[in-house]
Amino acid sequence: MAWKILCIAGARPNFMKIAPLLRAFAADARFDARLIHTGQHYDAKLSKVFFEDLAIPRPHVELEVGSGSHAQQTAEIMKRFEAVIAAEQPHGVLVVGDVNSTVGCALVASKWVLDAPFRVAQGVRTRPVVIHVEAGLRSRDHDMPEEINRLVTDALSDLLFVSEPDGMTNLAREGATDRAHLVGNVMIDTMIAARDKAMESPILATLGLREHGYGLVTLHRPSNVDDPVALRGLLATLSEVDLPLVFPVHPRTRKRIADAGIALSDRWQLIDPLGYLDFMRLTSSARVVLTDSGGVQEETTVLGVPCITLRENTERPITCDEGTNQLVGTHREAILAAYARIDDVRRAAKIPNLWDGKAAARIVALLGTYFTA
Ligand code: UD1
Ligand code: UDP
Repeated sequence: MAWKILCIAGARPNFMKIAPLLRAFAADARFDARLIHTGQHYDAKLSKVFFEDLAIPRPHVELEVGSGSHAQQTAEIMKRFEAVIAAEQPHGVLVVGDVNSTVGCALVASKWVLDAPFRVAQGVRTRPVVIHVEAGLRSRDHDMPEEINRLVTDALSDLLFVSEPDGMTNLAREGATDRAHLVGNVMIDTMIAARDKAMESPILATLGLREHGYGLVTLHRPSNVDDPVALRGLLATLSEVDLPLVFPVHPRTRKRIADAGIALSDRWQLIDPLGYLDFMRLTSSARVVLTDSGGVQEETTVLGVPCITLRENTERPITCDEGTNQLVGTHREAILAAYARIDDVRRAAKIPNLWDGKAAARIVALLGTYFTA
């Protein structure tokens, strides 16, 4: 009998993280991994495109929760996932990252009592094993919804798989060392696996961009985009960067720009969110990436592309300590000073330990040991 693991994905950054895990599970006959798509993101450009680009198998179940306030969305995820867990009776539930789907499903799984107890290396389990991939990251900013999701998910999880040493330090401080394993970064597994295919994307020509001749912008954090004054000021500062700027716009941000009536100069190309391969191609050849994304800080570090992070804090400090990232906040002077330093940053950067394309294989190997009675 194989160990049944429900793997949860719901929002854009989850798909890059779940793809290599599903591949690693599929290569190990001891596991029966099933993908549950919560439907937190539902637009084709935030969801379907990644199934195509990353060859992710069709979900076993789609919960189709859609958008809502935090409480509404998380509650809907929990209600619908509880019915799935009741029907599936899984041995494990694996969640990735820090979105509402992550915390909602972890909470349901950690209270679910199975019809039949089962044995793992450490004894008898009456509930599914809750597994968190990308555990231990902390921004220490409780105004950030993701920080709440991280704290709660890590508190509930039985196994914590960590991408960078700082995450292990955070978990040690929270008394979770015995549950934590430093395994590397599954998002980088996906990047390394898709890199050759991404380089074939025609997106530079399609957008009329020159290699290393443009800046790439992404923005979707509520702290940057939900306040019209902050958003207007930030976009005005970015307009001072003396490069053509290409901006694949998240739907949340698209709505805010429209509501605020912000008009941008000819320097900007505002486009729809891109698929993974096109976005990776654009990132690889950008002169600089200006972003508030979590995952993009990591990808730019591995690609050796300068990244300016438009936030006051990061849960991924290794990208600044070792990689190409500069954490600058949103003040004009700091952004422009960081832009002036991008060549120095690129020269000094290195790729963090264990960001080598093999994190998912390490996780599945550790799970094999954990589940073996
Ligand atoms: C969510 C995650 C965030 C992650 C981001 C990745 C939480 C709390 N937030 O933020 O951590 O960095 O995804 O992109 O889980 N919308 C659409 N189409 C969609 C999905 C959303 O138009 O397919 C619009 C809706 O107006 C929605 C808004 O975007 O209200 C925000 O969506 P939501 O999933 O709540 O949060 P994100 O900002 O996408
Ligand atoms: N990404 C993408 N298309 C885009 C913008 C981002 O494929 O138009 C990818 C990016 O390469 C990374 C992931 O989406 O793999 C990051 O997701 P996002 O920034 O939405 O979320 P966060 O990482 O901030 O939670």
